[in-house]
Amino acid sequence: DLSPVEKAKFVAAKQASRMIEDGMRVGLGTGSTAEWLVRCIGEMVRDEGLAIRAVPTSRRTADLARELGIEVVTLEEAGWLDLTIDGADEVDGALNLIKGGGAALLHEKIVATASDRMVVIADATKRVETLGAFPLPVEIIPFGWQATKVLVEETLVGLDVLGREVELRMKDGEAVRTDEGNHILDLHLNRIGNARQLGLALNQIAGVVENGLFVDICDALVIGHGDGRVESY
Ligand code: A5P
Repeated sequence: DLSPVEKAKFVAAKQASRMIEDGMRVGLGTGSTAEWLVRCIGEMVRDEGLAIRAVPTSRRTADLARELGIEVVTLEEAGWLDLTIDGADEVDGALNLIKGGGAALLHEKIVATASDRMVVIADATKRVETLGAFPLPVEIIPFGWQATKVLVEETLVGLDVLGREVELRMKDGEAVRTDEGNHILDLHLNRIGNARQLGLALNQIAGVVENGLFVDICDALVIGHGDGRVESY
């Protein structure tokens, strides 16, 4: 009774959940696909007595994990993680990602890079030839955000990026706040030729906290299809 896209997310999450072993410290992603993962882990905790310590990447994920009886710890308490499993907004053939559609990119990147391994779970629509059709989220400090936006726009011009529309993310008439109280700029770029260069350039700008490009962070990809097939890369 699941729609094809929900089924695709579920089968990817289910497959990835099998990588989790007793005693592991596991980073839990954010978003609708990661929610399926948290539900699968919840079942393993309940039915198989799986014992893990989980570090969530958002309040949303933390609440769900606790509700399902998963032991939640902070990254400080865990120290380092064995495995992080998260969704993505886009993933290319080199396993580079765009993340942050759910505004959790900062904690997601910290958790992913503090892990021995990062595995991305996604439905097949997330696979792309070239990153950039999905607007690139950039987390910025609220102080002086207009100036930061201008500097981001100038950086895009300097890098010859084609699409240059930059939007402050809004919700219910107000600028979105991340779990850290920051704002999000969405960069409509169409096509990102050099993700590494763009990510580095954005993070040089005063006021930018982090960007949603994950370059050389993801180690493996599990793609689900609506008919229940799963592919791993
Ligand atoms: C959260 O900030 C994002 O990075 C999510 O991982 C991304 O938006 C994927 O979400 P869905 O699984 O809901 O598509």
